[in-house]
Amino acid sequence: MADIQPFHVMALLQRARVLEAQGRHIVHMEIGEPDFPSPEAVVRAGIAALEAGKTHYTPALGLPELRRAIASSYPPEAYPEPDHVVVTPGASGALQLIMAVLLNPGDEVLIADPAYPCNRHFIRLFEGEAKAVPVDASTGYQLNTDLIRQHWTPKTMAVMVASPSNPTGTVVPADDLKEMIATVTGLGGVLIVDEIYHGIIYDTELISVLAFSKDVFVINSFSKYYGMTGWRVGWLVSPPAYVGAIDRLAQNIFLATSTPAQYAALAAFGPGVEAELQDRVGIFRQRRDYLLSALIELGFKILVIPQGAFYIYADCSDLTDDSFQFATILLEQAGVAITPGLDFGAHQASQHVRFSYTTSIDELKVGVERVRLFLKRPGLS
Ligand SMILES: Cc1ncc(COP(=O)(O)O)c(C=O)c1O
Repeated sequence: MADIQPFHVMALLQRARVLEAQGRHIVHMEIGEPDFPSPEAVVRAGIAALEAGKTHYTPALGLPELRRAIASSYPPEAYPEPDHVVVTPGASGALQLIMAVLLNPGDEVLIADPAYPCNRHFIRLFEGEAKAVPVDASTGYQLNTDLIRQHWTPKTMAVMVASPSNPTGTVVPADDLKEMIATVTGLGGVLIVDEIYHGIIYDTELISVLAFSKDVFVINSFSKYYGMTGWRVGWLVSPPAYVGAIDRLAQNIFLATSTPAQYAALAAFGPGVEAELQDRVGIFRQRRDYLLSALIELGFKILVIPQGAFYIYADCSDLTDDSFQFATILLEQAGVAITPGLDFGAHQASQHVRFSYTTSIDELKVGVERVRLFLKRPGLS
């Protein structure tokens, strides 16, 4: 337990709730989930499943029709066999299964620093060692083959990347992914690609790593693109060799993912939903474009334009030398909640903050004005 850190932003969120209870208005730019409700068709399907009594366990690997629908949601060149698709309680469930099936005590997994904070904890839970590789703007805040080779040791067993990434919103270019597959496989390891933010992409085309190899682990979820965080449904696509072991693990760890939630997720592939979700991506893009230029004007440095997800990872070193304190005071004095870099690792954490644009553009504008006034205050360090 000594190695399992809390989300530091949760303390800020809690404080924000206290301030709100006292009547303060807080602009929330710390929250890592879409502000949109789940699509109506999804909600209706969840209710219908409950009313039809679909409240028993499903097979541990998931509802067969949902596994088929997930497989079919990939373009033909990336199409996985439905038998290799495993439905999980969120991407978090997928992360647990993958680390459980891959790791022996002491095995190392290379991850980027900064990255999604839970990764290193999932690795630790299964007695592995997360080897956080510092990344910066020069590689788009992503690992690449040079970094992988540089940090590989005889104990390294896997490499994990997220594209688009949390907290940076940057993607791994297709050619880099192909090279990574060759490098990691050549070194005798396994590549894990977290594609949870895949649908939320702006200036570029993004194809699943499955188009290049079926011998990688892919993580995805209904949480972000499909707006279903609270339903807790995600999936993984496994290399064929691991499916049997994952089945055994899933039976033991979860038994199954929530049944009504799986039926609700199935409706996410129904008619009309994709158009609704793409409209939302359009709204996210407008917010990103607005916030990006507003933050640069305020004095934040954004060294790589985020191409996906709903985050901007901003260098605040011209404004403060302590991003945690900055985020804390910004909340107290200006009523704006953001996430300090500390939540995503150690590398230059005190120089960075993450802004989420998971609130309306009007709220973002209020937030930006508050930050502008805040930065004009005397005595800010
Ligand atoms: C990169 C990344 N992976 C995985 C998750 C877990 O998502 P969930 O379990 O809700 O599907 C998150 C959540 O924020 C994330 O940002």
